[in-house]
Amino acid sequence: MADVTMDKIVSLSRRRGFVFPSSEIYGGMGSTYDYGHYGVLTKNNIRSLWFQAMVQERDDIVALDSAIILNPRVWEASGHVGGFTDPLVDCRTCKLRFRADQIDQASCGRRPSKHPGETPDCDLTEARQFNLMFKTQVGALEGESSTAYLRPETAQGIFVNFKNVLQLARRKPPFGIAQVGKSFRNEITPGNFLFRVREFEQMEMEFFVPPADAERWYRYWVDERFNWYLKYGLRESMLRKREHSAEERSHYSSGTTDIEYLYPIGWSELEGVANRGDFDLTQHTQHSGTKLEFVGDDSERYTPYVIEPAVSIERIFVAMLVDAYDEEVVAERDRTVLRLHPAIAPVKAAILPLIPRNADMVEKARGLHEELRKQHMVEYDDGGQIGRRYRRQDEIGTPFAFTIDDQTLEDDTVTVRDRDSLAQERLPIGGVRVWLEEALDKPWRTPKA
Ligand code: GAP
Repeated sequence: MADVTMDKIVSLSRRRGFVFPSSEIYGGMGSTYDYGHYGVLTKNNIRSLWFQAMVQERDDIVALDSAIILNPRVWEASGHVGGFTDPLVDCRTCKLRFRADQIDQASCGRRPSKHPGETPDCDLTEARQFNLMFKTQVGALEGESSTAYLRPETAQGIFVNFKNVLQLARRKPPFGIAQVGKSFRNEITPGNFLFRVREFEQMEMEFFVPPADAERWYRYWVDERFNWYLKYGLRESMLRKREHSAEERSHYSSGTTDIEYLYPIGWSELEGVANRGDFDLTQHTQHSGTKLEFVGDDSERYTPYVIEPAVSIERIFVAMLVDAYDEEVVAERDRTVLRLHPAIAPVKAAILPLIPRNADMVEKARGLHEELRKQHMVEYDDGGQIGRRYRRQDEIGTPFAFTIDDQTLEDDTVTVRDRDSLAQERLPIGGVRVWLEEALDKPWRTPKA
């Protein structure tokens, strides 16, 4: 089995057009990335499978798409203006900036084998609090009154819409509101590819429950989200649940469990599930003057507690690629393959005419491509030798390849090649659409140990 490093993932992502450094022709823009064709397709799959599990397949969760720039008072009420900070220190010698609480993981700018502060030349400032929100200006006039923020999380857009959803979607607790969208954080120490970036796509769901039921729902969502990762192929040995100690928890949380993945950088947070209590609705009630509570029949009245599963597409994307990456030797040749769950794979099948100069093969292959693309993201490829085309599809994780060859012209059958086992079988060309449908529907387990 391959030793999977972040460098290998970065290199494959770039080579195959999943992800590139942003603004590259201008020298890049620290820790922001652009997604190419296969990156967009993979992200779309992650987003829609999350949405399917959180909204489509449930009666108790509705969707929301709130603005990125909210009234700045939202961020005062939420505690972000006052407290969304990291402690940072500057080195006057090397001019680098470090998180004070992560000095032991950072490298000195002049002597990378040492930590900042460990050499006689290091000259560190006192730690000071640095707010992670990006400030912007709304309107033409600059000044305090026009200062606004790019949202650092999607959650607050949900809380401030609690009353709208309660009334207009006619919901009562337990019910949830799900949102997917960009969030922005001016991270001091971004890095490790997409793991910690300044602009990322969050998928958050706020589940409003009667206070007495909060603990039960908290445990429920930890398990539900953990199982979602197993369903989409992550190996159980690479996942764990880690409950925060009281000291580690955020100010709003009365219980938090991280679902961690064993990234190449070690066990790290993939998704967080928090019991936020009534902190958010109470804060927004106090700051806005609008009561955010549930009033039921029989004069029942309370502020719901909130259970929140929160994750970014970026962290799932990296975990999926790491889990899928594999190298092996087949017939004395190296093969790199992404063993992605077929539902996550950007392309579901490749259609390959064996001899691209053969007009009859091309016509059959084009016909099959036209038929399959109506249902699925499939790819027609007639560029280069068949072996190279297979390798290209292996590296982007395409689970199936249909090859049109001499025999197809005689008996209208095609070869289907399985990405993982490399097994090949022949199918009637007219049955390929249904065969693919069934193959994509089957449960899938990674052959990686
Ligand atoms: N609303 C709660 C909240 O935002 P968080 O732990 O700060 O909590 C939730 O973030 C999730 O968002 C994390 O578990 C992670 O998946 C993702 N995330 C946070 N910061 C990120 C960053 N800089 N880059 C990529 N993903 C990030």
